[in-house]
Amino acid sequence: MPENDKQSLSMVTCTAPVNIAVIKYWGKRDEDLILPMNSSLSLTLHQDQLKTTTTVACSRNFQQDRIWLNGKEEDISNPRLQSCLQESILWRLNDFDCNGTCTSMTSCSPNDDDDDVKIWFVLVYTLSQLFGVESEQLSAVARQGSGSACRSLYGGFVQWKLGEQLDGKDSLAEQVESESYWPELRVLTLVVSAEQKSVGSTSGMHTSVETSQLLKYRADVVVPSRMEEMIRVIRERDFPAFGELTMKDSNQFHAICLDTYPPIFYLNNMSHRIISLVHRYNQYYGETRVAYTFDAGPNAVIYTLQDHLSEFVQVVRHFFPPEVSGEEFFKGLPVCSADLSEELKKDINMEPTPKGIRYIISTKAGPGPCVVKDPNHHLLGADGLPK
Ligand code: DP6
Repeated sequence: MPENDKQSLSMVTCTAPVNIAVIKYWGKRDEDLILPMNSSLSLTLHQDQLKTTTTVACSRNFQQDRIWLNGKEEDISNPRLQSCLQESILWRLNDFDCNGTCTSMTSCSPNDDDDDVKIWFVLVYTLSQLFGVESEQLSAVARQGSGSACRSLYGGFVQWKLGEQLDGKDSLAEQVESESYWPELRVLTLVVSAEQKSVGSTSGMHTSVETSQLLKYRADVVVPSRMEEMIRVIRERDFPAFGELTMKDSNQFHAICLDTYPPIFYLNNMSHRIISLVHRYNQYYGETRVAYTFDAGPNAVIYTLQDHLSEFVQVVRHFFPPEVSGEEFFKGLPVCSADLSEELKKDINMEPTPKGIRYIISTKAGPGPCVVKDPNHHLLGADGLPK
């Protein structure tokens, strides 16, 4: 903690990335400790487009722990938040200079319908920075905020190992390859128009564990060999194999959702159209050039290589003519516009769906959480309240 702040106030701001799984986590073997039934693997996305920022302030002068999310005060008694805070209380006690009270403010970008931003994780990370804790167990604490979020502790390709111990101490995130390992890899998020909010991942996976026989088969038989294969194709930078495995794993996850009773539908008509478009596009070229994956919602995440990015964006724009133009539709890394070949459009042979996709976010692999040095970026004022 900075020397001159020791007396009264210490404040740290951190940003944390989002990760998108290519081998999905779905199902817990222990709901209290948040231990998964299978290992999973994801890519951490660059923070230029999507990130969560958290400021934690700690002072003896504050009256009580308080927390705000996107400016709105949250109930501090939330059980998952409490699991994270319990651990941080130990850090606080160990930190003789700052055993005061903390306030925290988190903001997510973009903050609408983004269910992938796992806020408690960045809170844990920020607290660890504030108290100078460098613990190997950080991902075990982060995991208690939200399972998949522990993979955001590292940049690039990250696996969350299932672990064997009952106490979950070996169920940890681990970097497979850094964010610079596969520089040509690109990620597009296609944000579709959704009518209703879907079942949350926590309750969805609970019902799957209770009712889906397929889930057990996936966890016991399918995922162990898929993890090995996924790590191998990433290390070989073999996009067709990576893409195919990514799509198959996403499809299997959604098959489990259908096998859940009552069934869970995360994909909507627009998601199905995107799936068809990807397969028709790949079929046209006779190889896997783009791959989709879907989490607990209808938005598609597309993996592709730099060389195919601009053409595929044009294809999306052609088959989902947007309501808005230019920067409003396409956010992120620039792509040069290429004219689409008539033959390709004809071969894909789909009716365009106007306004089916609200906007596209283009990004790539990125690093893990970062400490923000510039104090102007703190989200809290010296009084510990949101600025
Ligand atoms: C479909 O991490 O949101 O995104 O541990 O209950 O908070 P909890 O679940 P959560 O589940 C994410 C599920 C997924 C797949 C994945 O990211 O691996």
